[in-house]
Amino acid sequence: MNVFQYKFQGVYSLKDKDRTSLCTQSLTPGIRVYGEKLITLDDNEYRIWSTRRSKLSAAIKSGLSEMPIQPGSKILYLGAASGTTVSHCSDIVGDKGTIYAVEFSERTARDLIHLAAARSNIMPIVEDARHPTRYASVVAGPIEVVYQDVAQPNQADILYENLKTFCSFGAWGMLAIKARSIDSTSSLDEIYSKEIATLDNLGLQIVDNIDLNPLEKDHRFIVCRVSEDLK
Ligand SMILES: C[S@@+](CC[C@H](N)C(=O)[O-])C[C@H]1O[C@@H](n2cnc3c(N)ncnc32)[C@H](O)[C@@H]1O
Repeated sequence: MNVFQYKFQGVYSLKDKDRTSLCTQSLTPGIRVYGEKLITLDDNEYRIWSTRRSKLSAAIKSGLSEMPIQPGSKILYLGAASGTTVSHCSDIVGDKGTIYAVEFSERTARDLIHLAAARSNIMPIVEDARHPTRYASVVAGPIEVVYQDVAQPNQADILYENLKTFCSFGAWGMLAIKARSIDSTSSLDEIYSKEIATLDNLGLQIVDNIDLNPLEKDHRFIVCRVSEDLK
């Protein structure tokens, strides 16, 4: 079994016989977050990063070219759920980074709060991502990356409102588009084109546009960048 640095800082590739998996180096050795496999090599513990449980892992495996989440990054994560992907982002950004993790379901947020108790770089926020001004007072900006996975009809607008509130020129947006949460009848291509046109019209430059099939059915993963002043 061997572990290699992947092309993105803080992301590793674990090779076991003919199987290769993504993983991150655990910030809290010995603790599983969602039942993931833990591997210890050379005194370091790695957590296997499931492509079936995390759209970010699926996007990396599907050929993501830009990974704005890096050691030391300050992230605003919208739609944190119980913290599966947030936990891997927490491993990546490390002690010098921060993740403001927004989740509006109080029940789901209980696990997130529990996760944050063991990881000092996660700040849980139980709020609605459609109203960034409600949590603006607890987010110490500027934010470098807004990650959005809320599975709501107006995903592009929610991303934009948060970028406008917390970010400036050069900041990144990462968006997991769930087509069937937006429109249950139009073709997938129509739905994705419309969301991407919305981002484009709002002045965001599309950097990556990745189909997550077959790892995540009917999902696209978009990376975009603030390339002009936000209106
Ligand atoms: C697909 S799940 C997120 C999975 C998570 N990103 C991961 O990879 O571990 C979507 C989450 O977004 C939350 N959500 C939906 N709308 C929201 C909103 N307006 N504000 C905050 N959270 C929201 C849901 O409660 C749900 O937990």
